[in-house]
Amino acid sequence: MTRTIRATVMQTPTKDHLEVLHDVAITYETTGAEVGTIVEICPFSQHGKPANETLPEGSVLLPGLVDLHIHAPQWPQLGTGLDLPLERWLFEYTFPLEARFTDLEFATRVWADMVTTLLANGTTTAVYFASQDLKATTLLAKTCVELGQRALVGRVAMDHLTGTPEWYRDESPSSGVAASRASVEAIRALACDRVQPIITPRFIPACSDELLQGLGDLAAELSVRVQTHCSESDWEHGYVLERHGMTDTESLARFGLIKAGTVLAHADHVTDSDLQHLASSGAGIAHCPLSNAYFGDAVFPVRRALSAGVSVGLGTDIAGGSEASLLAQCAHAVTVSRMLEDGVDANKPADSRGVAESRIDSIAAFWLATVGGAAVADLPVGLIEVGRQFDAIAVRSGEPPSPLRRWDLDDDTRWFEKIVRLARPSDITDVWVGGQTLN
Ligand code: GUN
Ligand code: FE
Repeated sequence: MTRTIRATVMQTPTKDHLEVLHDVAITYETTGAEVGTIVEICPFSQHGKPANETLPEGSVLLPGLVDLHIHAPQWPQLGTGLDLPLERWLFEYTFPLEARFTDLEFATRVWADMVTTLLANGTTTAVYFASQDLKATTLLAKTCVELGQRALVGRVAMDHLTGTPEWYRDESPSSGVAASRASVEAIRALACDRVQPIITPRFIPACSDELLQGLGDLAAELSVRVQTHCSESDWEHGYVLERHGMTDTESLARFGLIKAGTVLAHADHVTDSDLQHLASSGAGIAHCPLSNAYFGDAVFPVRRALSAGVSVGLGTDIAGGSEASLLAQCAHAVTVSRMLEDGVDANKPADSRGVAESRIDSIAAFWLATVGGAAVADLPVGLIEVGRQFDAIAVRSGEPPSPLRRWDLDDDTRWFEKIVRLARPSDITDVWVGGQTLN
């Protein structure tokens, strides 16, 4: 069985091209092994049959957004606690909150609240750091299955004797690996293609070498993706240089943690040689522009990474990033790229204040949030195209108090830029994941 939607599509097949498909018929499978897969896109005038659904005049269909990096148990902390540097923020605010998720009643409430809100914001795929707790992690995966969000869900492994508090850590490297194995099995046992496990060492400072090695071996044995934080801040990057005598990328690679499908969060301080390594391994980066302003000590050089051939997507890094909307992160990605290019200190001469050729525009930012993230996570989403899953959102010109408005002077390019910068849940009228309507 198939279903056809008639709509006008706006999307970014490449980072410098806005594609507008006016009045097309998009047909996708609704049953069988290929459920959700787009099988045909053609001008509606050539379709020859009525559509099952027609988007209203003025609405546009866009690919769903891929949040490549988000900490689910930090959801209750969204919008607060950003006054401390990373190393203190973790111990004073974040680990105590994450440790509460052994309380499954609390976890149930938080997960449902978060997934519902993210879907309303257009996040059809999320790559989650869950909690260290195995049961709470499985519950998050179940919540995604039930509410229909596509997700990679990782139990957070962390055992280091000084890098973690004794009340929030794996008892030993072997128990950390065993719990991670059990988490992969529990999520796979949910038997939902849309929700898959991802092995998640928190970051090198929170993990012993034995745990990192054990998780690298486990990822290979079970063929599971990996995510972790990488060269996030001066402190974190410097800590790894001191402990291992090499960069995060080099060190993670020794443990088998850098491979195709690996998602590295932040990577603000990576070297050119790290970038080359990432490009050849197929690992990718989750650029978290807002979070980096608080914890990163630097702007991630997104154009340099893309020029080096590295896959990059966007992450909210909730709650290090204080906004749920990935479209808001698109705007932040544009803004920080301009600050990197221009520089920030007016006391320096203009021609040596910034880093030339660093800026990106809204089209490139949306591409990161869709096609880029899908490539890093190795998922067939991010573009409304035959062979990919029908993960999509519908956006319409808003009404007060929403500022999103299409005036007669707004051609397609301007309208798209406005959507990327301004669309919020009240402007997002429909959300589909794998062809399933979620509203
Ligand atoms: N590094 C290790 N854990 C975290 C975290 O929860 N958030 C961020 N931004 N960086 C981290
Ligand atoms: Fe993070």
